[in-house]
Amino acid sequence: MKERNKLKIITAENYMHLSELVAQIIIKKVHEKPNAVIGLATGSTPIGMYQQLIKDYLKNGTSYEHIKTVNLDEYVGLSENHPQSYRYYMDYQLFKHINIKNENIFIPNGKNSLEACESYEKNIQHIGGVDLQILGIGHNGHIGFNEPNTPFSSRTHIVELADSTRQANARFFEGIEEVPKHAITMGIETILQSKQIILLASGISKSDAVNRLFSKEINENFPASALHHHSDVTVVVDKEAANYSPLSYE
Ligand code: PGA
Repeated sequence: MKERNKLKIITAENYMHLSELVAQIIIKKVHEKPNAVIGLATGSTPIGMYQQLIKDYLKNGTSYEHIKTVNLDEYVGLSENHPQSYRYYMDYQLFKHINIKNENIFIPNGKNSLEACESYEKNIQHIGGVDLQILGIGHNGHIGFNEPNTPFSSRTHIVELADSTRQANARFFEGIEEVPKHAITMGIETILQSKQIILLASGISKSDAVNRLFSKEINENFPASALHHHSDVTVVVDKEAANYSPLSYE
């Protein structure tokens, strides 16, 4: 059994504060290591953080010229130009607003092939591994698209999305039937190899997942609990998501 490490927690006043705090952690990393590899996430939660990064870029000129980014996941079967593809999301939410180079952006290509998974995994090693990985958390505890019962030893792989995940993401599509059934995602072991991890959770709907993350449970049934095996994880929550008892986590 691997060692259990203590997760750090920061409770922000609200979503805006959470977004500012996490953006500051990224900006600090970019200044300390101008060629850092930053792991990025999609979904609703990081949008405010991306807005803060853009604001800082415009105001302070923080340069992303030598920064590389790797994204956690992508839907299978959506082209880069599909408005719900994560490539499109990243371009729209962040990349087209800062001076990152296109050749330094890595997002799984959405092809359902073992080769795509293996080459994504190899590339992460090739560029030196992830210095700072940003994560969201699903209501079911997924990280990336690693749904419950994904082995903690998993590497980049193709997943069948849980119904609950497709339902949660249907709000971005015309209807649930439009939501792809498969995705390509970094595995849990891939994520755990990042040097530093920041997990964001906002809103009351995430409080059960946050509570479960801080319980004693470490179980593949709850993918985020794998983070207890990493030595540098900070969970940044707003007050609504932090509806947990700190005493339950000793
Ligand atoms: P959300 O998604 O930020 O849209 O809540 C997070 C996740 O499912 O990982």
